[in-house]
Amino acid sequence: MDKIGHGKWGGWIVPLGVLLRLFTVITAQPGFLSISCGGKTDHTAENNITWVTDAGYIDVGQRADIDIGNVSALGSYLHSLRYFPKPLNKSCYQLPVTPNAPYLLRLWFVAGNFSLVKGNLEFSFSIETVDILATREVFSVISEQIYYEFIFVTSGRVLYICLVRTFSSYDPFISAIELRRLQDGMYQNNIGEGGRILVLQSRYDVGGNSVVRYPQDKFDRIWTPFKSSGPSRNVSSKEPISTTNTENLPPTAVMQTASVTLSETQPFLLDSTFDSAILLVLYFAEIETLNMSESRSFHVQLDGVQHSTITLMRNYSALEVTISPDTEIGRVELVESTNSTLPPIINAYEYYWEINSGRPTLSDDIYILNDIKGRFHIKDWISDPCYLIPWNGISCDDITGDIRISEIDLSGRKLTGLVPENIGDLTALVNLSLDNNAFTGPMPNFSNLIMLERLYLQNNNFNGNIEFVSSLTNLKELYLQNNNFNGNIEFVSSLTNLKELYLQNNNLNGNLKWLSEVKNLTKLYLQNNNFNGNLEWLSQLKNLKELNKQEN
Ligand SMILES: *[C@@H]1O[C@H](CO)[C@@H](O)[C@H](O)[C@H]1NC(C)=O
Ligand SMILES: *[C@@H]1O[C@H](CO)[C@@H](O)[C@H](O)[C@H]1NC(C)=O
Ligand SMILES: *[C@@H]1O[C@H](CO)[C@@H](O)[C@H](O)[C@H]1NC(C)=O
Ligand SMILES: *[C@@H]1O[C@H](CO)[C@@H](O)[C@H](O)[C@H]1NC(C)=O
Ligand SMILES: *[C@@H]1O[C@H](CO)[C@@H](O)[C@H](O)[C@H]1NC(C)=O
Ligand SMILES: *[C@@H]1O[C@H](CO)[C@@H](O)[C@H](O)[C@H]1NC(C)=O
Ligand SMILES: *[C@@H]1O[C@H](CO)[C@@H](O)[C@H](O)[C@H]1NC(C)=O
Ligand SMILES: *[C@@H]1O[C@H](CO)[C@@H](O)[C@H](O)[C@H]1NC(C)=O
Ligand SMILES: *[C@@H]1O[C@H](CO)[C@@H](O)[C@H](O)[C@H]1NC(C)=O
Ligand SMILES: *[C@@H]1O[C@H](CO)[C@@H](O)[C@H](O)[C@H]1NC(C)=O
Ligand SMILES: *[C@@H]1O[C@H](CO)[C@@H](O)[C@H](O)[C@H]1NC(C)=O
Repeated sequence: MDKIGHGKWGGWIVPLGVLLRLFTVITAQPGFLSISCGGKTDHTAENNITWVTDAGYIDVGQRADIDIGNVSALGSYLHSLRYFPKPLNKSCYQLPVTPNAPYLLRLWFVAGNFSLVKGNLEFSFSIETVDILATREVFSVISEQIYYEFIFVTSGRVLYICLVRTFSSYDPFISAIELRRLQDGMYQNNIGEGGRILVLQSRYDVGGNSVVRYPQDKFDRIWTPFKSSGPSRNVSSKEPISTTNTENLPPTAVMQTASVTLSETQPFLLDSTFDSAILLVLYFAEIETLNMSESRSFHVQLDGVQHSTITLMRNYSALEVTISPDTEIGRVELVESTNSTLPPIINAYEYYWEINSGRPTLSDDIYILNDIKGRFHIKDWISDPCYLIPWNGISCDDITGDIRISEIDLSGRKLTGLVPENIGDLTALVNLSLDNNAFTGPMPNFSNLIMLERLYLQNNNFNGNIEFVSSLTNLKELYLQNNNFNGNIEFVSSLTNLKELYLQNNNLNGNLKWLSEVKNLTKLYLQNNNFNGNLEWLSQLKNLKELNKQEN
C-alpha cells in the first residue's frame, strides 16, 4: 500500500546555521553522491563510481557487515548497512542538494543475512525537503535486492532521507543511497517547479541483453533488458544515436537495441492498480537499414484510443513520447499505420507514478523551531517537525488547513540562558513546558499565545514580572513555582478558566482578593510570596481541593 499523502505544498526556509556537517564530496562524477551505508572506508567500484561511507551524513544508528550471498550483480557498496535499533523511531540522513535542479535518488535495501536474525523486512522511509514529503513502505519476506527510485526537484538545499519504525519489532535499515544530479530540463515537464515526485515503476531497455547504467548512462539510470512476450525480433545497431530531440537524454547503448514486432501491434500492459497519476515515456529510433521503398510509421494507442503517430527518420535520431493521461490506462499499443511498410519498433520505455507531496509544517513555525534547535543544540530535531513522527517534545495540529506546532516540551533538558523571544510567535501553542531547566532572565512577552492552556515554567531561575499572562484567557494550568518572579499579579483575575495555579517560592506581591474571580480553581499554592489582604474570599472557591497558603 502506498501511503504518500496528497496536499498543497508549502515554502520552508532552513537557516543554514543549524545544519551540521553538510559537505559535498568531490568525486570523479560531478553531481553524484554515492553513500555506502554502514561502510567502513571510501572506495571506487568497478564502474569507477566513488562510494563514500555515511559518516558525514548521519550520527545515529549502528553499522553492520552483511553477507549478501552469491549475487554477483550486487555491488560491493551493499556489503554493509546501517540499522536503527530501539528507541530510535525516525532517523534521518541529511544530504546537500542544489535548489531547483532535477535529481534522481535511489535507495537500496539489501538485508542479506541480517534479515535471518531479525525476521521480515517491514518498515518505512520518507523523503523530506522544504516542498516534498513522501513516504513508502519497505516490505519483503526474503533477502532480495530492493531499490526505490525517485526523480524530483526541490527549492530546498537539504534532502532528508528518514528511516521510520512502523512495527516495534523490526529495526529499519538502509544499504545505500545514490543521488544523481540530472541535466536541467530532464523530466522537468512532469516534476514541474517542485512539490511533485516521480516514483519509478520500471525502466526497460527493449531488445537489450544486459543491464545498462553508468558509465553508458551518464546519469546512472538503471535500464534492465525487456523480456518481450509477443512475437518480436530483437534488433541492434552500432551507429551513434542522436538524442538532441529528446528531453530525457536516453543513453546511446539503450537506443542501439530495439524490438520490432512481427505483427501489426506491439502491446505493453501497465500495472494500473495504483490510483495516482502515471507518466510513461516511450523512446524510438530507427536502427534498421531501410531502402528507399520502405517506411515505418505507427500509432501509440492507450486502451484503444489513439494518442500520437510516430514516423521514424533514417538519420539515427531518437524520438520521445511522453504520456501522462488524465485517466487510468492499462494497455499501451503500437499499431502500424496503413501507409507504413514496416511494423512498429520500440527501443526503450520508462513508467513512473506521479506523486504529490504531503503537507509540510507551516514554514514560520519551522523557522522558529530551527532557531530553538540551533540555540540549544537539540540533535534529534531533524527533518519536518510533524511529518509521520513529530520531533521529540513536539506535538502538531491541523489548524484550518495549516500544520502547526501545538506543544513544545523542553522540560528537564538542562537548558540555560534566556528563553528565545520567538517562541511567542508560535501562535498555535496549547502546551508549553520549559520547566526543570536552568533558564534565567525575564520571560519573553508571550501575550500572543492566545490558545495556550498549560504553561509550565517551574524550577528555573526566571525573574521579572509576568504581566503578559493576563491576555492568556484560555490558560487552565499555570506553574510558576520555584523561580524569582516578582511584581504584582492582581491581573490574573482575567484568567477565569484557570484550574491550577502554582506561585510558591517567588517574590510576587499584590492583593489576593482577585482570586475570588477565578471560580474554577482546584489547586492553589501561594507560600513564600509577599501577598497582602486577607483570605476570607477563599470560601467562594467551591472547587478548591489543594491549598497551600501564604506563611507569614
Ligand atoms: C575508469 O576510469 C579510468 C581512468 O579514468 C578509465 O581508464 C577506465 O576506462 C574507467 N572504467 C570504466 C568502467 O569506466
Ligand atoms: C553476516 O555476514 C557477515 C559477513 O560474512 C558477518 O560478518 C556477520 O556476522 C553475519 N551476520 C549474521 C547475523 O550472521
Ligand atoms: C555462484 O553462482 C554461480 C551460478 O549460479 C556459480 O557458477 C558459482 O560457482 C557460485 N559461486 C559461489 C561462490 O557459490
Ligand atoms: C519510539 O516509539 C515508542 C512506541 O511508540 C516509544 O515508546 C518510544 O519512546 C519512542 N522513542 C523515542 C526516542 O521517542
Ligand atoms: C530479445 O531480447 C530479450 C532480452 O534479452 C529476450 O528476453 C527475448 O527473448 C529476445 N527476443 C527474441 C525474439 O529473441
Ligand atoms: C527494399 O527492401 C525490401 C525488403 O527487404 C525488398 O522487398 C524491396 O525489394 C527493396 N526495394 C528496393 C527498391 O530495393
Ligand atoms: C533527423 O531528421 C529529423 C526530421 O527531419 C530532424 O528533426 C532531426 O533533427 C534529424 N536528426 C539529426 C541528428 O540530424
Ligand atoms: C503515414 O501517415 C501518417 C499519418 O497517419 C503521417 O504522419 C506520415 O507522415 C505518413 N508516412 C509516410 C511515410 O507517408
Ligand atoms: C496538552 O497537554 C494535555 C495534558 O498533558 C494533553 O492532554 C493534551 O493532549 C495536550 N495538548 C496538545 C495539543 O498537545
Ligand atoms: C506584549 O505584547 C503585546 C502585543 O504584542 C503588547 O500589547 C503588550 O504591551 C506587550 N507587553 C509588554 C509588557 O511588553
Ligand atoms: C468552570 O467549570 C465548569 C464545569 O467544569 C464550566 O462549565 C465553566 O464554564 C467553568 N467556568 C469558567 C469561568 O471557566
